[in-house]
Amino acid sequence: MRAAGRLPVPCATVPPFYITTPIYYVNDAPHIGHAYTTVTADALARWHRLLGDDTYFLTGTDEHGLKVQRAAEANGITPTEQADRFASRFREAWAGLDISNDEFIRTTEPRHYAAVQKLLQACYDNGDIESGTYRGLYSVADEAYVTADEVPELERQGRPVIEMEEENYFFKLSRYEGALLDWYESHPDFVLPVTKRNEALGFIRQGLKDFSVSRTSIDWGVPIPWDPRHVTYVWFDALTNYLTAAGYADDPATFARRWPAVHLIGKDILRFHCVYWPAMLLSAGVEPPRHVYVHGYLLVGGEKMSKTRLNQIAPADLVETFGVDGFRYHFLADQRFGPDGDFSYEAMVARYNADLANNLGNLLHRVTTIVARKLDGTGPPSGADGPLAEASAGVSEETARAWDEVAPSEALAATWRLIHQANAYLEEREPWKMEPGPDLEVVLGDALEALRIVAVLAAPAIPGASSEIWRRIGMPGSPEAARLPEAAAWGGYPGGVPVERGAPLFPRLDA
Ligand code: MSP
Repeated sequence: MRAAGRLPVPCATVPPFYITTPIYYVNDAPHIGHAYTTVTADALARWHRLLGDDTYFLTGTDEHGLKVQRAAEANGITPTEQADRFASRFREAWAGLDISNDEFIRTTEPRHYAAVQKLLQACYDNGDIESGTYRGLYSVADEAYVTADEVPELERQGRPVIEMEEENYFFKLSRYEGALLDWYESHPDFVLPVTKRNEALGFIRQGLKDFSVSRTSIDWGVPIPWDPRHVTYVWFDALTNYLTAAGYADDPATFARRWPAVHLIGKDILRFHCVYWPAMLLSAGVEPPRHVYVHGYLLVGGEKMSKTRLNQIAPADLVETFGVDGFRYHFLADQRFGPDGDFSYEAMVARYNADLANNLGNLLHRVTTIVARKLDGTGPPSGADGPLAEASAGVSEETARAWDEVAPSEALAATWRLIHQANAYLEEREPWKMEPGPDLEVVLGDALEALRIVAVLAAPAIPGASSEIWRRIGMPGSPEAARLPEAAAWGGYPGGVPVERGAPLFPRLDA
């Protein structure tokens, strides 16, 4: 855990925090599963910006490979058109959720071709890529390899499937068992949570097979630098995006500052990120990622979302009802990071009403209303100590610990404890019954200070509402410009500033 009272550090030693999401396939529209990863990464990036870390947040789209080529054919367009269309949809979806990514990478960019080729060449020069024979089931009509479970349907459609062999390049993953086990041993927090680390170790201990990194049967991809009859096959291409955006091929100074990354992924791609990827990097002489944080699935009605089940939910449909912050808050507060979780609309309404409309919304509404009525709309300063001052110190520390451990639901539960305490304090002191004077000013000053601290601590999750609270209580600037830990220390509310009573931030929803 980061020391709560960390001193400001000179620029050159500001810790880097380079966080990434998976790059999403452009054969599918953005749904709440993609949004869950992206919102979590965004909240972490925002938290690290509050800490003053040299933060860089990357997301983007995975545009090569057969899936995309097939989707384009099905839509009657070229793969480039398919990629352009869906990359825009992801960009728009993220803009609609207040995602603060510094960059959006697309694997069809020339700089990415350069990075993939550089990484391949480094592994090849190190003797870890060799040619071999790939055998698989191949659909002649589709000109593509298929899986065994696709065969009956293809045969039913009269599309013959044959056994095919082709020359491929293989990455010698089998050589890396020992090196990977050593890496895990010397980096106990490489993969988190620990259940996912154990899963990754299980794969490695089972024995590793070499994997194919090229195809001659497709052409939508990055050519293999020493043998351009082949294009790079999906995972080698996709994983390298994290290096591309850090400047691996074209900007060594930035790369040295930014790398290694922190990856956030769903459990479906654990094997690629926790086994293939560190081995590829070790082979090329590049340090493996700092951490890989792996979360479970968001299920709908107990099932994984998929196109074929028709159970995908578009983020915009929920934003319409809950607002951007209501959407973000739900997925951060209601899903524990790690295990699978079930999405339920009813639970989302209940949580929104309890935490946002009632607890936070009421606190803001009560305090601003009484300041308007009894103190002519001028917020008094907070006292030097008192019950809320004490509560806030514990809350700040617990919130920081939880964000640091990538436990957003715990971080928000901690922050919300200050809101509960502030509401309880108001109920106990009943400022609505008090006459204007020093006693009333102490109560309201303390409640305003609690709101100020909540606005800072909750800003990574609900950036829009936090800025609005900040503005309404008369604070200059925005909570995003605040720096922790100083900004969460008791006593920052200046007093003597105009407080605005506004419309409810989170209007109550009917169940
Ligand atoms: N393109 C690859 C990833 C390459 S990364 C180098 C890919 N893309 S994907 O579009 O299928 O997105 C997968 C990621 O989306 C998951 O790892 C996860 O982060 C997120 N999710 C997609 N569906 C999800 C759920 N139902 N629940 C939670 N996360 C989900 O795989």
